[in-house]
Formats: sequence, structure tokens, C-alpha cells
Amino acid sequence: MNSYTDSQPESLDELLSYFHGPKGENSELFRKMLLKIFDRHAQQRASLFPDDEPLFSPNGENKNLERAVETLLDKMEGNLPFFHPRYSAQMGKDPTIPSILGYLAFAFANPNNHAWEGGPVTTQMEMEVVETLLKMWGVPGGWGHLSSGGSLANMETLWAVRDHYGNGTVFFSEVSHYSWKRISKILLIDSFAEIPVEGNFRMNPNALEEALKKAKKPMMVVANFGSTGTGGADDLAPILELKKKYNFHLHIDAAYGGFFRSVLLDDDYQLIPHDPTGEVSLHSYQQLQLLPEADSITIDPHKQGFIQYGAGAVLYKDEALRAPLSNTAPYTYHKTDKPNIGMFALEGSRPGAMAAACWLTYRTIPPVYSGLGKLLRLSLAAANKFWELIEESSAFDNFNKPDIDIVTFYAKGKNGEEMVKNSMKVYQQLSVENPEAEFIISKFVVSPEIAGRVIPGLKLPPGENFSALRSVFMKHWNALDDFRYVRLLVNTLEESLKLQ
Ligand SMILES: Cc1ncc(COP(=O)(O)O)c(C=O)c1O
Repeated sequence: MNSYTDSQPESLDELLSYFHGPKGENSELFRKMLLKIFDRHAQQRASLFPDDEPLFSPNGENKNLERAVETLLDKMEGNLPFFHPRYSAQMGKDPTIPSILGYLAFAFANPNNHAWEGGPVTTQMEMEVVETLLKMWGVPGGWGHLSSGGSLANMETLWAVRDHYGNGTVFFSEVSHYSWKRISKILLIDSFAEIPVEGNFRMNPNALEEALKKAKKPMMVVANFGSTGTGGADDLAPILELKKKYNFHLHIDAAYGGFFRSVLLDDDYQLIPHDPTGEVSLHSYQQLQLLPEADSITIDPHKQGFIQYGAGAVLYKDEALRAPLSNTAPYTYHKTDKPNIGMFALEGSRPGAMAAACWLTYRTIPPVYSGLGKLLRLSLAAANKFWELIEESSAFDNFNKPDIDIVTFYAKGKNGEEMVKNSMKVYQQLSVENPEAEFIISKFVVSPEIAGRVIPGLKLPPGENFSALRSVFMKHWNALDDFRYVRLLVNTLEESLKLQ
């Protein structure tokens, strides 16, 4: 059982009550909680040091502030509906009510989790969140911390690995997140090798072995569980075999997909056997099962962990990886009998409020099947349903078979050029390109070499890339009401091709 959970959510209805909802279904409850938090904070200020006199008289009104807030509210109207199932372009999640409440409750007081003295309460919360994430990863004895996001989590790991093992070569697949190339350059890594993927967007293990053989000092391999473009899950079994032979540090970039482990966990964080009739494919189940074999992992609460942006996380197995990160300063970290998370983290100031957002979310919706897992299962179901409907469509074809909940697809055509032209006609109508778009999806552009592995014999004009379409079904809303929005999306896609 989650060590700090009051009780497991009972049903899907109860889980849904933790969300504002695309139509603001839970506005009343949310509003009540928001006011409760504000009132408690205001009361706290008023009652602190009761003998102190107020420093100034309240103004009652501030016209300038009111006007500025009105302008801000107008700007909110122009925001894209990232929380809505009609938006499936990028990784925009609908954060939970607990996530916003947790953040707000502590943003008022503004703790800083760089050191215990900066945020004594929220440091403790971060420790509990990390403990929960470690249990979800399957490495309860490990360590780690929250970060501002996945890129910084990746960078910290690469830095720690470089200085722990000594500089060498890092290997990652050609569809890995762009941060890997950048941080390899920033950290002056001896060399990096981009390993080709197969037609399923998973790293080719034979090509990895060829690259490992050529390297002077193989230092680290990065495998993806949930690559950014297609959600591809690299095949870990052969990579683990290579690890035995070449002795590298294995990092899994599960920034996007790591929370899917919650779909497989019972309330005691033990693996539930694979259900062949369920939403998790055998391949994905096997990779999730092997996640604890990695030496470190990036896993972002602000992606599939239902937290608003600003919450990444990095977890390590080996305590020794702390040493290269170790940091002191003449003006802080003096409270040595308490945890100072910033002493072992790349980033300096980190919002205690973010730890509170995660803490309240995983306390109410623990990352096990009966909690987050049930919601993530709905995302998988939505992606699988969309994939099925595209398989049946006379106008579109699937480009990838989803390992998790991202689907790429393209409009049919007699050759590659026509497929791209038809797909881009759809993109112009159903994307950020069109302010009136009924659905917002994204574009997925790959080299002709990669596209040719997916669609053998594909002909493209010389020098042209293949541009497909992409939908990220990370909102569980997509599966509700018999996949209402998935069906509507497919109809809208088909209609958009017919328009002149
Ligand atoms: C697989 C993967 N790794 C790393 C990142 C980087 O995370 P962030 O944008 O939080 O820095 C992303 C972001 O999409 C990602 O998908």
C-alpha cells in the first residue's frame, strides 16, 4: 500500500472527481477547495505573531491591478485548450485538481526545495513523492529527486555518469528526444552515436552492438520507453544482454512513458500478470517489467503523471552516482541532520510547491492500477481504438502501431508525394495552423530512410522528408462515452480530406 495514501480510489467515478473536466464538470468542488486554501493562508498570515501591528492599511481596491487582470483573463481566452480531448497535438495533459491545489497551497508561502532550510515541509513531501516514484519504478532502494523537466533530468544523469565512469561514448536511438544530442555537446561527451531504429521506431539492437564494438569506451546507453514522436518502447532484453558484455550504464528515458508502469501494479506495487485481452501489448508489458533493470531513469510527473508543467524527475539505483553531483555552499546546507536535496541535484532553486502538487496527487491517486493506472489504461484504450479505426479507414493508414498512446498516421495516396500532400492538407485544417480547427493534431516528419523502413518501397521526391500526422491520446477523456472524441476525430479527419 502507498505509504501515505489515505485510501485507494474506489471507482472510475471517484477518479474522475479529481479532475476539473473538459466542460468544467467539477467546477463547484474545485472552486470550494480553492477558496478553502486561500482562506487558510490568509488566516495564517493574520494570526502569525499576533502582537505585531499591520504594516499598512488595506487599499481595498487597485484599478491598475483589476485592469491588468482583465487583460490577463482575455489572454486566457486565446490559449489553446490543451486539457481538452479535441487537443491531441503535443503532450498536453489535464492536470488533476490536487495538482493545482497542492501547488497553490504552497506557492503562497513560496518554499524552495534546494535545501531543507528553504522548504522543510515540502522537502519531506518531495522525499515521500520520490519514495512513491521509486516503488513505481520497481527500485524501492534507489534515490532521486524532482527536476524542472525531462531535459534537465537527462542532463544531470549524463553528467553524473560521465564523472562516475569517466568520459566515453553515449548511445541513443535516432528517434530519441532532442535533448540527448544537445546535452552531449554541452557536457563535452567524447562522442555520441545515434543508433538507427527499425520500422517500429524501436532501436535496432544489432546496429547498437555494431556501434558498441567500434567505440573506444562505451559509457552509457539510453533506451526509450515512450519516444517523443511515436511513443516507441525499445526492446530491453537484447540491450540488457549487451550490457553484460559491454558493461555500460543503462539509462531509460521514460520521461513520457514511465508512469505506464502504474497500469501493471497492484496496491502493493507488485506486478499484475499480463492480460492478453487488455490494453497493454505484450511487448510494452515486457519492457515495463524490465524497467527496474536500468541503472537510472527519467520519469516526468508533468507528462503522464497528471501534474502541470514544471515537474520532471530523475531516479538512480546506485548511491555512488551522488558523489559527482555533490555540492556545498558557504551560505546554505548547514543543517546536516536533515535532507538537503539540492546537494545532489544539478538545479538550484526548485519550487517546494511542485513537490506539494505531486504529493497531493499521488496521495489521492496513487500510481498503481487502482489509481493512475486505471486512467492511463483509458489513454491506451483510446489510442488502440483510434489505430483500429484508421486501419478500417479507406482514406488513412497507420504509420506506427502504438506501443503506448501516441499514434502516427497518414492520408493515403498513389505515392509518397501524394501521401504527404494529402496529409498536409489535413494538417492545415486540423492543427494550430487553423484558428477555427475543431481538432488539433500535430505533424510527424521523418527522413526518407526511416519512412522507407516503415513503408517499404516508398517513393519520395529527392531530398524530401516524409510528413505524417500525429495524435497524442494522453487524455483519458478520449475513452469516455464509448470513445466519443476518438470517433469524432476520425470522422473529422475523413471530412477534411473531402474539402476543396
Ligand atoms: C522521451 C522524452 N525525453 C525527454 C523529454 C524532455 O522533457 P522536457 O520537455 O520536460 O524537458 C521529452 C519531452 O517531450 C520526451 O518525450
